[in-house]
Amino acid sequence: MALYSEKVMDHFRNPRNVGVIENADGVGEVGNPVCGDIMKIYLKIENDIITDVKFETFGCGSAIASSSMATELIKGKPLSEALTLTNKAVTEALDGLPAHKLHCSVLAEEAIKSAVKDYYDKNGIEYDKSQFPEENSCDHCCKV
Ligand code: FES
Repeated sequence: MALYSEKVMDHFRNPRNVGVIENADGVGEVGNPVCGDIMKIYLKIENDIITDVKFETFGCGSAIASSSMATELIKGKPLSEALTLTNKAVTEALDGLPAHKLHCSVLAEEAIKSAVKDYYDKNGIEYDKSQFPEENSCDHCCKV
């Protein structure tokens, strides 16, 4: 069996939503101190709906595929839904990742949460802090 699914290869070779949103409403950046990969997510938000999303990922193929799939999964969705996106859902949507690459999908989940939190903070919007991981709460991820 191939190490990577066709979906992973497709999203790695043709990543969706790559780029930067100027004047984004929320920006999230996370990194993995072990491998050194960095992921940045930009959100455009109108009436609590993610109207546009872009990403920049300096990292491995699985991180690029995870970012691409994660942005597709949250585009056009309410913030509340984006906040429930898990790395497991991203991995499943990619038809799986090798076990030693699962942490790459965690970056996508964390970067989206970080971008939504940035939007809430910038706009003085109250939110349930328990929805967001503490900084450096995960073995793999850290704020950069
Ligand atoms: Fe670093 Fe994939 S090896 S995120």
